[in-house]
Amino acid sequence: MHLSVIGCGYVGLVTGACLAEAGHDVVCTDIDAQRIAQLQAGNVPIYERHLDKVLASARQSQKLSYTADAGEAIRGSEAIFICVGTPPKQNGDADLSAIDNVARQIAAEARSPKLVIEKSTVPARTGLELRRALTAYSRNNEVRFRVVSNPEFLREGTAVEDFLHPDRIVVGVEDDSSAADLRAIYRPILERNFHCPVHNGTCPPERPAELLVTTISSAELIKHASNSFLALKISYANVLADLCEKLGADVEQVTHAIGLDPRIGTQFLRAGLGFGGFCFPKDLQAFVHLAASVGVDFDILKAAERVNKERVGRFREKVRRALWVIKGKRVAVLGLAFKANTDDIRFSQALEVVKALLEEGAHVHATDPEALSKAKMLLPAVTYYEDPYDALREADAALVCTEWQAYRSLDWQRAGTLMARRLVIDGRNLYSPARMRELGFEYYSFGRE
Ligand SMILES: NC(=O)c1ccc[n+]([C@@H]2O[C@H](COP(=O)([O-])OP(=O)(O)OC[C@H]3O[C@@H](n4cnc5c(N)ncnc54)[C@H](O)[C@@H]3O)[C@@H](O)[C@H]2O)c1
Repeated sequence: MHLSVIGCGYVGLVTGACLAEAGHDVVCTDIDAQRIAQLQAGNVPIYERHLDKVLASARQSQKLSYTADAGEAIRGSEAIFICVGTPPKQNGDADLSAIDNVARQIAAEARSPKLVIEKSTVPARTGLELRRALTAYSRNNEVRFRVVSNPEFLREGTAVEDFLHPDRIVVGVEDDSSAADLRAIYRPILERNFHCPVHNGTCPPERPAELLVTTISSAELIKHASNSFLALKISYANVLADLCEKLGADVEQVTHAIGLDPRIGTQFLRAGLGFGGFCFPKDLQAFVHLAASVGVDFDILKAAERVNKERVGRFREKVRRALWVIKGKRVAVLGLAFKANTDDIRFSQALEVVKALLEEGAHVHATDPEALSKAKMLLPAVTYYEDPYDALREADAALVCTEWQAYRSLDWQRAGTLMARRLVIDGRNLYSPARMRELGFEYYSFGRE
């Protein structure tokens, strides 16, 4: 099937590359002509594991192409994936203006029937509005639009793997033919009939993904409900950590034990600096806003959001207690990305920490394996290093803000000889407190003594 993808960000690029790898002809377009030129030149504008391999392979098989001309992409495809951003507005509601712009373009350019697939995360009922808008904007009464909601559950850092090996594919439809088309698009993935770049062809046996067919509004709600529940779990673990600190308990022993109950599960129970990124904070806000707009008070989600916002303040308190005076101190920040294995710094808690330190007059020396160039543009007052040991040189304290594997396996013996003071404040609970003390460090983390 001829497919097009509108929006070449994290989701659009992974969607386009993986569907081309699965055998479809895909053309990707973006409003950012520079990004399209970069992609046409064979450069990958974001860091995402395995994406370079999939893009190169799709390029070689000539299944994937890029164009800055959205009209060309729209006219040449039967199915269009909308993957544009849906950032939060001031009031927490989702800003759907990019979706609206795309609807206008599709309506103006379409000369034949189009299956319009909403992959961006949007509040429930957006798909219904989108269908209405497509018809209203179209000047050609002959062209028929079908709208499908196909929320994306990939996680940055493991996005290619998640797309090719999903645990479920949700399609919200209004008619059987749309469900059949989506099944055809995803068939190679459902039947594992593609060359897997992650496992180099031989994927481990696992339960095949299920394709769940729902209504459009249910599909949209599933995505918000899923992210909000995960955010809730993280905030729960963080409040537990605060409680453990007061009571002298160890949050990791507690979360490990409760997580072994299969009804709870061990994932997303890690205490620390909390969640950031382009999805959880905004999806949580949008879900609360959506609920309020129909008279439902989603109080528990508001609490989860409040707890998360307070994490940086709590961390700052730990830093202040340890350093006494922050002004004039040299502080090494390990990690700027909102989580490991991505260069994405959008709504990163690490950046909030850096801003708080700068506000207090600290000299911030930061490092990150992938996010430096993005951070440099946003926070020019920071001194940046590729090598974490360089960032740690002469530091009065090391602050761990992102859970990169490279920081888990850092040689603290060596780091200790470089630092001005052996002090580590760990926002991601990466190390054993006992081991750090053995190495002569003052060590503080969340919910552990
Ligand atoms: N990033 C994730 O992990 C993730 C996971 C699941 C779902 N989502 C959702 O997917 C959507 C996209 O997220 P993202 O992280 O890929 O965003 P992004 O900001 O990385 O990418 C969006 C892209 O859309 C382009 N764009 C905006 N308006 C356009 C227009 N009118 N025409 C063409 N291109 C346009 C932008 O230039 C940008 O390149 C969001 O709704 C997000 O919530 C994101």
